[in-house]
Amino acid sequence: MADDIRSHKGPRHVAIIMDGNGRWATQRGRPRLFGHHAGARRVREIVEACPDYGVEYLTIFAFSTENWKRTQVEVAGLMSLFRRYITKEARALRDENVQVRFIGDRVRLDAKLVSLMDELELMTAHCTGINLTIALNYGGRDEVARATKRLAQDVADGRLNPRDVNEETLPKYLDTCVLPDPDLVIRTSGEARISNFLLWQSAYSEYEFVDTLWPDFTAGEFGRLMLSYGARDRRFGAVKA
Ligand code: FPP
Repeated sequence: MADDIRSHKGPRHVAIIMDGNGRWATQRGRPRLFGHHAGARRVREIVEACPDYGVEYLTIFAFSTENWKRTQVEVAGLMSLFRRYITKEARALRDENVQVRFIGDRVRLDAKLVSLMDELELMTAHCTGINLTIALNYGGRDEVARATKRLAQDVADGRLNPRDVNEETLPKYLDTCVLPDPDLVIRTSGEARISNFLLWQSAYSEYEFVDTLWPDFTAGEFGRLMLSYGARDRRFGAVKA
């Protein structure tokens, strides 16, 4: 490993909005699902690149609460892709010491998929390498609403005093309660918006919007972004001493 990689101060938690699968497929005259399959193959490459740059947490946006608005064919194809991906990758992820978690609302997902998700979480719970979090049926507003509902229930049941509610309280109810906030959020495909991803958690994140479509996003490009992150000056609202 080169010295400039070893000595740089990289992001501990990287979150990625994997956008552009549909356009990638259309450019090739293929159905959109062809792009999603190509996109799924990229995930492993990026997970494997994380340790080279000191990245401990990788969170990827696989399916949003808004993605149900897509055609029935695309939604069913994506759900089947997720089932196949988990089944196919489970053992490799465990063997590579990757701890997998899912965030998002599981209520609307089919029972078979949910049991595969539970199984994969359980199977990798002891892993101490990269923390891979897959956002599936995830929306930042939905997450905050679900968290607020649970918090309100704790108040109603007398477990929480409203006077004790502050900025540290709500994150304990979020799906991401065991994760640090993302240091860097990357979005591929040239779109510069956050699309309801990690709204609370990314308050002080750095952003990188790159033109590359997700199926073309390589470990090399990921590595360049990790290195350029080291040059950033994060002040979290304060001024430099
Ligand atoms: C956005 O591209 C991508 C998605 C909605 C799905 C993301 C899923 C994957 C990358 C594959 C599976 C992931 C896992 C974890 C197995 P888009 O369809 O909006 O592309 P477009 O903007 O070009 O139409």
